[in-house]
Amino acid sequence: MLDPLALRMDFPILHQEVNGHPLIYLDNGASTQKPHVVIDALRHYYEHDHSNVHRGLHELSNRATEAYEAARQRLARFLNARHAEEIIFTRGTTEGINLVAQSWGQENLRAGDVILLTEMEHHSNLVPWQMLARRSGASLRFLPVTANGASLDLSQLDSMLTSEVKFFAFTHISNTLGVINPAAALCARARRLGIPTLIDAAQSIGHDQVDVQALDCDFSGLFRT
Ligand SMILES: Cc1ncc(COP(=O)(O)O)c(C=O)c1O
Repeated sequence: MLDPLALRMDFPILHQEVNGHPLIYLDNGASTQKPHVVIDALRHYYEHDHSNVHRGLHELSNRATEAYEAARQRLARFLNARHAEEIIFTRGTTEGINLVAQSWGQENLRAGDVILLTEMEHHSNLVPWQMLARRSGASLRFLPVTANGASLDLSQLDSMLTSEVKFFAFTHISNTLGVINPAAALCARARRLGIPTLIDAAQSIGHDQVDVQALDCDFSGLFRT
């Protein structure tokens, strides 16, 4: 059984009162508080091992590199990634999506191409594509949400996946609607047409187990702190 009071004890920031009441923090969808183990690991790293990762020959650089690569391998196991090299650390989902837009997108998308998004995207998975569309001459298309806001209108998917669509980026779990999209099925549908996919999975890892091989996307922006 989950013991919420024991869990609270793991989070030092909750050991305070705000406006005369014990702090109850519900904004985890935006910024998640850190438990002791995370704070302690960061502190230990900066107090003992901090140095250049993959950029030095001395002891501290070796330790920092080992810790960095061990974290990459542990995350690969956690997400069931095939190779640790698939894990790329960024400062958050927005930076990860911008990285894809400005590297793969810049290189591969041209005037006349269509980037398919959905109507339920966070700005993080909208603005990078708007900027890329402006630079490249590609255009954006949006898979609609049903009238009651309960899901994507998948009845429109086939008619939207035309031959001009060269990229499909969508959110796995909507931060506003709470909708969980059938991400694996959407990726499989796009893959059959040779269309690369990106999943904005900013909300996924905190809510469910994520298996990137089962999702079978080309890129995912997963990690948030
Ligand atoms: C669905 C979704 N995508 C992207 C983001 C942005 O994430 P980050 O702050 O890691 O850039 C958020 C943040 O709440 C989000 O909910």
